[in-house]
Amino acid sequence: MMRKAKISDVKEIQKLINQYAKSGEMLPRSLNQIYEQLQNFYVIELNRKIAACCELFITWEDLAEVKALAVAPDYKGKGLGSALVKKCISTAKQLGIKKVFALTFQPEFFLKLGFKIVSKDVMPHKIWFECVKCPLFPDCNEVPVMKEISGAS
Ligand SMILES: CC(C)(COP(=O)(O)OP(=O)(O)OC[C@H]1O[C@@H](n2cnc3c(N)ncnc32)[C@H](O)[C@@H]1OP(=O)(O)O)[C@@H](O)C(=O)NCCC(=O)NCCS
Repeated sequence: MMRKAKISDVKEIQKLINQYAKSGEMLPRSLNQIYEQLQNFYVIELNRKIAACCELFITWEDLAEVKALAVAPDYKGKGLGSALVKKCISTAKQLGIKKVFALTFQPEFFLKLGFKIVSKDVMPHKIWFECVKCPLFPDCNEVPVMKEISGAS
């Protein structure tokens, strides 16, 4: 079942993300970061466990970011990741946002969902404020991908 995240999900969300952070597949999140962004999170709950999570973060008037996307190892390849990204896209559309982007180590996954690889130069400067705080800066090989949302008003 996909739903908005709740306070009681936070520790599980952190575990899910940080197991991938340990292997360098994602950036780590503190509990504080997740509490602050909790209202932006969707989760998929299966068998009373958080099987997947994702965040939609509004960057600017025409742009939002898909972040913190993680599917638990046992549930990979079953469409949960795609379902969460599609939910973020439809939420962005409802909000009237025209473009959604992600910074990812898995660009092929996003290409299948209609995203295109873009140059980092097209990203607004605001995004780099977060980047400079990251432990991987400046040698990060995350790939920026972007999708234009058709019909957004
Ligand atoms: C990447 C991730 C989110 C994909 O979620 P998922 O639920 O396993 O993916 P889905 O089942 O929705 O896959 C959708 C399609 O993308 C493909 N796909 C999934 N992961 C892929 C990858 N890493 N590379 C290429 N294609 C991939 C699937 O084969 C599927 O293709 P199909 O439609 O032709 O069958 C998930 O594997 C994950 O959490 N990985 C570890 C954490 C991570 O990398 N997160 C960062 C994303 S920014």
